[in-house]
Amino acid sequence: MKTLQLRAFGKPTTAPELIEAAPLEPGAGQVLVALEAAPINPSDLLLITGRYGVRPPLPAALGAEGVGRIVAVGPTVDPVRIGERILIVPTLEHGTWQDQTVINEGDAVPVDPKADPLQLSMLGINPLTADLLLRRFTDLAPGAWVGQTGANSAVGRYVIALAKLAGVRTLNVVRRPEVAADLVEVGADAVVVSGPDLAEQLAAALGNDQISLVLDAVSGDVVTELAHSLVFGGTIVSYGRMSGAPAAISPADLIFRDVRLRGFWLKHWLETTPSARIAESYGRLAILVANGALRAPVEATYPLEQHRNALAHAAQAGRTGKVLFTW
Ligand SMILES: NC(=O)c1ccc[n+]([C@@H]2O[C@H](COP(=O)([O-])OP(=O)(O)OC[C@H]3O[C@@H](n4cnc5c(N)ncnc54)[C@H](OP(=O)(O)O)[C@@H]3O)[C@@H](O)[C@H]2O)c1
Repeated sequence: MKTLQLRAFGKPTTAPELIEAAPLEPGAGQVLVALEAAPINPSDLLLITGRYGVRPPLPAALGAEGVGRIVAVGPTVDPVRIGERILIVPTLEHGTWQDQTVINEGDAVPVDPKADPLQLSMLGINPLTADLLLRRFTDLAPGAWVGQTGANSAVGRYVIALAKLAGVRTLNVVRRPEVAADLVEVGADAVVVSGPDLAEQLAAALGNDQISLVLDAVSGDVVTELAHSLVFGGTIVSYGRMSGAPAAISPADLIFRDVRLRGFWLKHWLETTPSARIAESYGRLAILVANGALRAPVEATYPLEQHRNALAHAAQAGRTGKVLFTW
């Protein structure tokens, strides 16, 4: 059984090693899953370099999420589950960049076997993150504006789709003008491009309106501008740090307009939420993935053997979609 393993933190293209590991056996309450597809996310690249919110004990199996088929079950698990296509809940306790993985039965969420496995493999992290970002921080009335940075990311696109379904408008900040038309096509209400004239673009897009919630995956100066357009007492949720810069908010916005800055990490939510609620969320979102309402473009798929090319590709700027491992 091949597994992509991390022995020492380092560069994503050189640190992981593909090794031949002993076959896995499911224990009591566990299932053995043969992987079908598993995405490479920005958080995986951070984890490999040792700069993520957790540093797993090494050696560690890599890959946080994916989809596969149950091929064996341990004692106490109903063998009727063998053959089920399942989503692996991204607990970060089991690697998905390997031919097979053993997980607790409760972390194997059944999904529609007829739906696109590539889209299903991305359901565990980004759609749920988008859903929670929109629901947990502010009550959004129909017609309210949500502003977001990094809008061309997979999370950004799921936010656009979920906001549209809720009747909420999205004001989307991107760094490349060429992606704007596609975002409008998938439902963005306004797209602006980060740069020196961002304030003027925001004013033109909003008119007399204000933003009710800001979702930020980029950080840096772009947050300063969006904060000026937030409602009094409005919230900025920081959930990514693609630029590497600190979130910059003017003290005037913090003091005189009571702007609030919060963080969000899906791992905390998964660890502190009852499993029935987690299953309900995945069940609801899985239907939207299966019917095509929620989707992220895929730029390339690779076998595990080409992990260096796959990880270099995933780290490239200007991608048109996600990079995934497939079996
Ligand atoms: N906190 C959580 O629980 C949580 C959960 C899920 C995701 N996230 C975070 O959400 C973010 C998006 O994840 P994803 O999987 O959706 O990403 P993705 O689809 O792989 O896309 C990455 C995006 O980042 C943009 N980007 C990269 N470097 C940038 C920079 N220096 N300045 C501005 N934009 C930059 C890219 O812009 P272009 O399109 O122009 O190339 C692209 O749109 C990541 O930061 C990820 O870690 C956090």
